[in-house]
Amino acid sequence: MERKKFIYSILIICFLVTVSFAIYFYNQSQQYQSKPLSLNTSEDDSPTYHFALIGEEMDHDYWRLVGEGAKDTEKNYDVFVEYKGPRRSNPEEQLKLLDIAIQSQVDGIIVQALNDDFLPMINKAVDQGIPVITVDTDAPDSARATYIGTDNYAAGQLAGRTLVEDTGGEATVGIVTGSFSNAHHQLRVEGFREVVEQEEGIEIVAIEESNITRVVAEEKAYKMLTDNPKITALYGTSALDGIGMVAAAESLEMDDLYMINFDTLEENIQLVQEDKIDVLIEQKPYEMGYHSIELMLDIMEGSSVQDVYHTDVSVVRKDDLGQIQKAGDNP
Ligand code: BGC
Repeated sequence: MERKKFIYSILIICFLVTVSFAIYFYNQSQQYQSKPLSLNTSEDDSPTYHFALIGEEMDHDYWRLVGEGAKDTEKNYDVFVEYKGPRRSNPEEQLKLLDIAIQSQVDGIIVQALNDDFLPMINKAVDQGIPVITVDTDAPDSARATYIGTDNYAAGQLAGRTLVEDTGGEATVGIVTGSFSNAHHQLRVEGFREVVEQEEGIEIVAIEESNITRVVAEEKAYKMLTDNPKITALYGTSALDGIGMVAAAESLEMDDLYMINFDTLEENIQLVQEDKIDVLIEQKPYEMGYHSIELMLDIMEGSSVQDVYHTDVSVVRKDDLGQIQKAGDNP
């Protein structure tokens, strides 16, 4: 009897140990499958190169185009592009994604370098042998291999020259900028200022930041126009600022303001069509994405690259809408 009891106890212990192991390994495998950024692919049939593209905001038409351009290279090259970004503009989160890409040892990183905080992280990647390309916004003092995107200072100058031409050099200007601390918006404002400040009849009376959202752009434009009712022209430096500027002017019934804004997104084109925005400064987000991957492939193959590659910037008015390549067209 005692012997039987002993054998049963052993069998129960064995059963419990087996069940515990099964539960432990099941949990481990689940954890592995749900990792947030699985930047490692090691199956045999996976593409030769694995790049990470990190943009400012996933939920944004402009960044959707940059991402589409980059992902489309997968059809033509032996590459896998992992496109990531914060849902809403958030430089700290963007930096974290950059860090995760470094830890994951991807073959190359393409990143929008919003401000100086990105420099040490870019240099960390390069120190670890991962080449970095900046896109849309440059960090020229970092160890990045090259930059592809708009010459943001020159684009600001172009906006300034266009405003001078269209207003005959007479305007009281308010500026809505994406951000005071992000390099590309600073450059777009500096370039603009440099040109318009040479005109005696032009004065910039207010500048506010929109945090690249249409809601904040509207709030700030509304406040700016009520504080400065003499404003005759508004300049918006990021893609959704114009939408906010138009909404604010409409609610204040200020119908004849001159409006100039960045980016030929569908909604902006619609506002030009309706004569609510006078001019759009067109950038090439799809090309930026596509060519950034081609440049990274050149780097992988040991070809030398230039220090910068500036994509085209142009002025789009209502008359040009017929022929413009929409921002999403292939390069
Ligand atoms: C800028 C992007 C920005 C976007 C936001 C564009 O004009 O080039 O950097 O994320 O506007 O609205």
